[in-house]
Amino acid sequence: MCGIVGAVAERNVVEILLEGLKRLEYRGYDSAGVALLQADGTFSRTRRIGKVQALADAVDASPVLGGTGIAHTRWATHGGVTEDNAHPHQSSDRIAVVHNGIIENYETLRSGLESQGYTFTSDTDTESIAHTVHSLLKTNETLLGAVQQAVARFHGAYGTVVMDKEDPSRIVVARSGSPLVIGLGLGENFVASDQMALLPVTRRFIFLEEGDVAEITRRSVSIFDANGAPVEREIIESNVEHDSGDKGGYRHYMLKEIHEQPTVVRNALQHRLVGNDIADNVFGEGADAIFASVKHVQIVACGTSYHSGMTARYWLEEFAGVSCNVEIASEFRYRKSVVLPNSLLITISQSGETADTLAALRLAKEIGYSSSLAICNVAGSSLVRESSLSYMTRAGAEIGVASTKAFTTQLAGFLLLTMALGKHNGMSSDTSNEIAHALHSLPAKLEETLTMTQGIEDLAEEFADKHHSLFLGRGDQYPIAMEGALKLKEISYIHAEAYASGELKHGPLALIDDEMPVIVVAPNNELLEKLKSNVEEVRARGGIMYVFADKDAHFKGDDTMRVIDVPHCDSPIAPIIYTVPLQLLSYYVALIKGTDVDQPRNLAKSVTVE
Ligand code: G6P
Repeated sequence: MCGIVGAVAERNVVEILLEGLKRLEYRGYDSAGVALLQADGTFSRTRRIGKVQALADAVDASPVLGGTGIAHTRWATHGGVTEDNAHPHQSSDRIAVVHNGIIENYETLRSGLESQGYTFTSDTDTESIAHTVHSLLKTNETLLGAVQQAVARFHGAYGTVVMDKEDPSRIVVARSGSPLVIGLGLGENFVASDQMALLPVTRRFIFLEEGDVAEITRRSVSIFDANGAPVEREIIESNVEHDSGDKGGYRHYMLKEIHEQPTVVRNALQHRLVGNDIADNVFGEGADAIFASVKHVQIVACGTSYHSGMTARYWLEEFAGVSCNVEIASEFRYRKSVVLPNSLLITISQSGETADTLAALRLAKEIGYSSSLAICNVAGSSLVRESSLSYMTRAGAEIGVASTKAFTTQLAGFLLLTMALGKHNGMSSDTSNEIAHALHSLPAKLEETLTMTQGIEDLAEEFADKHHSLFLGRGDQYPIAMEGALKLKEISYIHAEAYASGELKHGPLALIDDEMPVIVVAPNNELLEKLKSNVEEVRARGGIMYVFADKDAHFKGDDTMRVIDVPHCDSPIAPIIYTVPLQLLSYYVALIKGTDVDQPRNLAKSVTVE
């Protein structure tokens, strides 16, 4: 969603702030802005609608200098996409603020502040932060004191950075519900909503915790917890690859990330799957003892990560004999659910910062889940820090909004988890060996599957002028059909729905005509014959089918059915393999349609607000 970067340095920080914003742009991108405290003691603020490049061009045209500054990319929540609503927001030409999250009581704050004489120039909730801090500076000697008092008045979620023109030596930051990370430099310090923004300037980070307020100067970082008590937070050396922000010669991040899948999956399995066994502590210290008593798994996640949970349910129940529920995090967090004895809560998240998933984890702890496992791609993220166990997917930075390699590495992790839980639940060594064998073959199979690109490019032409599409699958391929439909709608804006193919005749069959392409994922498994009947039901009604199938499934193509051969693979990894052609299909359809593949309209990479 929105992105924050801030800096306190001797040197001019404008380039650092703009580079940071570019690295965060994938999260939210309808407008951007930067405010600097200039050497003459004045504020300079530049804001633009559109991409960060528009802001960079504006800064190029009228250069600004300053060692203390804050910057922001916005994904509109309160107030439309206008320059007035873009951050930073100011109060009385003294305070400048950037903010991620939502201040839920902003209307009350606003009317109180207006009655004190403050004039609002935007429709945002954020402007009330600026005026609140400004008003409290009348009775507080320090910016830190004013911010500490201000946050007590805010309801909702915020990661915010505040700058005071009267004191250019410091910025004050506060976190509650929206992540902030402090980057430590030499004689200069930084803050951002994601470490990615700061990798060009530092690798040493402090992840703020809920309720923390921190004062950052060039040479010091002082952190105070929710009660105002000074606290020390651990300094973490980041091992995220520095160049992960590059497209590496690919036309889009999404294409690069699709092609990285064999490598990242190989990486993810290395030293974790040893022969036919899982190495110790793959899921964190103490995992084995916890797994020994697990009888039930509750998975919560959003978006693509939810689809990986849906897939995992088939594996956990079929192979490991562990009962499993999967729920969308935004539903789980707002309903009363029954906690079964010996239940493990699993959250799945690429970013580890998705607001609903995090809230679901926090609720789960309150209602009695004794242990939680985060399957996540970002070390040090809130989800990882707040879970008892964690498994890092090792997908590397994923920039494309539409998730690809994060999904397939999550699935690889779930197969390992299936083995780990199965061990305590009477899984036969044959089953365990079968999964291990399939996993060993996975990187090479993914490579082979990527050679399907040419055929899929041609196929994409046939979709580009369609407005609707249907994706069908059965068993563990049903969630893959859901993921395929999500990819297509996300980046090509073609309406796509997924159905378990057995459900077809209970409604969706009414939609079938020759304008509705129907995509089927059909590995050669025990449900094949049933799936074939469903295919015939569509054909009999004039539908045009696109069947992604194992050669051995013996589908015969004709005018109404295009059969696309997918490399043969062992059945435990089939959901992962069949994901790849669907990713490629969405990508090439989007390319032909000319949509913004990496930053599709209205979407954000990391949804840190409800
Ligand atoms: C957003 C992204 C999706 C992602 C979902 C969950 O909607 O656009 O690609 O699947 O959030 O994100 P998470 O980081 O929790 O996996």
